[in-house]
Amino acid sequence: MSEAQRISRLLIASMKRRALIPVAIAATMLLLAPAWAQEETPPSVTDQGAEPADKAAEPSAKEGDNAAAPPPKEAETLAAPPSTEKETAHESARHEQKPKRFDWSFAGAFGRYDKAQLRRGFKVYKEVCSSCHSIKMLAFRNLSQPGGPEFSEKEVEALAASYKVKDGPNQAGEYFDRPARPSDRFPPPFANEQAARAALAGNYPPDMSVLAKARGYSRGFPLFLFDVLPGFSYQEHGVDYIVSLMEGYEDTPPDVKLPDGQFYDPYMPGRRIGMPPPLSDGVVTYDDGAPQTIDQYAKDVSAFMMWVAEPHLESRKRVGLGVIAFLLVFVGLLYYTKRKIWTDVPH
Ligand code: HEC
Repeated sequence: MSEAQRISRLLIASMKRRALIPVAIAATMLLLAPAWAQEETPPSVTDQGAEPADKAAEPSAKEGDNAAAPPPKEAETLAAPPSTEKETAHESARHEQKPKRFDWSFAGAFGRYDKAQLRRGFKVYKEVCSSCHSIKMLAFRNLSQPGGPEFSEKEVEALAASYKVKDGPNQAGEYFDRPARPSDRFPPPFANEQAARAALAGNYPPDMSVLAKARGYSRGFPLFLFDVLPGFSYQEHGVDYIVSLMEGYEDTPPDVKLPDGQFYDPYMPGRRIGMPPPLSDGVVTYDDGAPQTIDQYAKDVSAFMMWVAEPHLESRKRVGLGVIAFLLVFVGLLYYTKRKIWTDVPH
């Protein structure tokens, strides 16, 4: 019998022992892990640290370019479309960086929103982000509901009255502006997408109602396995990403050319974003003594966006825990019931 045959027989024999199947699966996964990780991990994570290596690689690439297409400069200056195409290819070759991970009060099975943080986050949204980003699904009255920032109804009425919303038509058939009521939704900063693009150098700020949950990223091989387990899944991708994005603005590296109105941020897919850095230290005044720094603003506004996207997170987690606790008790009861019923049956 050849060596190969012997090994395959051994393998088959061991597969028959059921205990070995999980071991085999684990071994396969471990073998696959490096390939997987390479696919998932953006090559740029160490970009900043590894400048020299980056630069060392750059010239040779350029030489190669030159050899293939002798007048790259001319091509860039003469023909605009090819140059942007080239840029896009260059940019997409540099993957975005993976967001950092932050601690959130609402993470995990026992997670709860921090009311003070939500109030601060709302202030940041109102004073900074709301000049560009709408938040169409949020009504003023939501701000006083349990599980959110829990402003008092009086505060919400006063807040709503400070906004104007379009209403109508009236008896004369005309649309008119009136002060908002708690039942109204937040009026958007721009009448429509075209108006926003016209005002913001062609960029369109996305609506913030569900943005914190709509943005995510892959955590890579071993960690995503945890995401399928109830109670262990990581649900804070979006907020991690938003904070990283806010803090991640950098000077454009010399080898990258960005069109006007674009900024360099390694956390944005493509590493360029049409949003000027919105936060700076001290732009919003907090009256609860929290630090007035970019870091704090970014975390607060992200927490607020998470609440807007998932206002019932607290009750969802509370009910989930209750259900699990009930099921555990119920399993115990069923087990003892079964023993009691079957004790007298000979088998
Ligand atoms: C001057 C207007 C302006 C302000 C102020 C502003 N943004 Fe933006 N924002 C934009 C534009 C424009 C885009 C779209 C950028 C793009 O698609 O390249 C954007 C995109 C975003 C994105 C989405 C990135 C993605 O993954 O698509 C997030 C998150 C964001 N902004 C958060 C904020 C937060 C938080 C604030 C307040 C602290 C804020 N923005 C203030 C204009 C603004």
